[in-house]
Amino acid sequence: RILILDFGSQVTQLIARRLRENGVYCEIWPCNAAPDARIAEFAPRGVVLSGGPASVTTDESPRAPDLVFRMGVPVLGICYGQQTLAAQLGGAVENSDHHEFGRAFVDVTGECAITKDLWAPGAREQVWMSHGDRITRLPPGFRSVASSEGAPFAVIADDERRFYGTMFHPEVAHTPHGSQLLRNFAQGVCGCRGDWTMAGFRAEAVERIRAQVGSGRVVCGLSGGVDSSVAAVLLHEAIGDQLTCIFVDHGLLRAGEAEEVDRTFRDRFNIRLVHRDASDVFLKALAGTTDPERKRKTIGSLFIDVFEEEQAKIGGADFLAQGTLYPDVIESVSFAGGPSVTIKSHHNVGGLPERMRMRLVEPLRELFKDEVRALGRELGLPEAIVGRHPFPGPGLAIRILGEVTRESCDILRKADRIYLEEIRAAGLYDAIWQAFAVLLPVRSVGVMGDGRTYDQVCALRAVTSTDGMTADVYPFDMGFLTRVSNRIVNEVRGINRVTYDITSKPPGTIEWE
Ligand code: XMP
Repeated sequence: RILILDFGSQVTQLIARRLRENGVYCEIWPCNAAPDARIAEFAPRGVVLSGGPASVTTDESPRAPDLVFRMGVPVLGICYGQQTLAAQLGGAVENSDHHEFGRAFVDVTGECAITKDLWAPGAREQVWMSHGDRITRLPPGFRSVASSEGAPFAVIADDERRFYGTMFHPEVAHTPHGSQLLRNFAQGVCGCRGDWTMAGFRAEAVERIRAQVGSGRVVCGLSGGVDSSVAAVLLHEAIGDQLTCIFVDHGLLRAGEAEEVDRTFRDRFNIRLVHRDASDVFLKALAGTTDPERKRKTIGSLFIDVFEEEQAKIGGADFLAQGTLYPDVIESVSFAGGPSVTIKSHHNVGGLPERMRMRLVEPLRELFKDEVRALGRELGLPEAIVGRHPFPGPGLAIRILGEVTRESCDILRKADRIYLEEIRAAGLYDAIWQAFAVLLPVRSVGVMGDGRTYDQVCALRAVTSTDGMTADVYPFDMGFLTRVSNRIVNEVRGINRVTYDITSKPPGTIEWE
């Protein structure tokens, strides 16, 4: 396995993604929270030093623990990581007038183990740069393997000690051979076998769950989303009937979802499932509420109440299982004098653990979202669940602008079902990050047959994204949109007008509330 020390780059997670895609297990630790004892215990086969926003030329900028260079394992420094590696090993780094950001080209001048079979001397290769400083004197033992206009040392190598550095980011897609370059490092140089697979993870995770839980009882809140579904099936494989899943149906789900949860988990996987239809309770509590944050709070706290009620009915449990993912647990790095970087915290954790103060089982905490999907497939979960678009915890409540009523939920569910049916029929579902219909609290005039209508407006939303932090509108063709619009207006009583939301994020958000 490989240890990635994070110096605060926005793309550090991508290093882990690329390594894992190459079958190499790795973990990301903040550069300033990696005590020698912990590193020694982790016993990495190699270390990657990430990029970061600081400048090596300032005194307070962070450094790699010296141990990293004394362990006898290969080290790869990327961008800031390359500069601190050079500075710590006796080279010199200076601020440069020639800042390189974005697409750049390097001239390959030599060969080394990480560029092996990828870059031939004399070639010109595209890379992605994002730093202003540059190395002006190589540390002893190093030579340059590639240079760019602004930097003579775009790739440096010390083959003897197996230390390497790149001034660019091999982990981003804009560096075409970047993934293979990281593979050369992990497999070729560090000797990782590249056999970390989801089948292997599954077997290990089952053992770990058994060891943690013993003969204890576990409850798992099941929502029908990807993460809780995969966690539930994995737990069930490990501990069978020691697991009870509680599915709180708040009445704000999409068409057919509650039935699908029963069918999949109870009927197909034989999981002990408590399905509580609490739609009356939730809709009553939401009556008269129009403020989006108020809706979220009401739903969040009621969810815990109902969950606790159901848990008490089954006689309690020793552990609470959660589908927490790796991006939620990677500690963010912050250092004195330097900028601090906060990694996105998903707001779907819902406050269950804080209030319930139970011991947690989090079998997915090492995995990225696409790895959870792969694990779900490995466990035999249907594609309809594994490949599903994200769905917010508060459900339709934040897609019905203004007051939420049972009637408005029914109207929106029908429109949303038609929209998603058409998206699937057109083969577009997997190309879209998230698609849904929104019900607006405005009425407009229309004509149907010979009569006048005065009904609600439905807005369609579809975006592409990689992490939900930024998003672009999905460019449907007009024929598709008019087809959906015609179907909704003709088939859903209560809606007589359809619009398509073309706002990107930022400045918009994905959800309307
Ligand atoms: P926004 O609307 O903030 O959404 O651009 C980004 C992603 O987060 C989801 N989202 C939520 N998920 N509870 C959740 O579990 C919420 O309150 C919530 N609000 C937004 C949204 O669906 C999108 O995927």
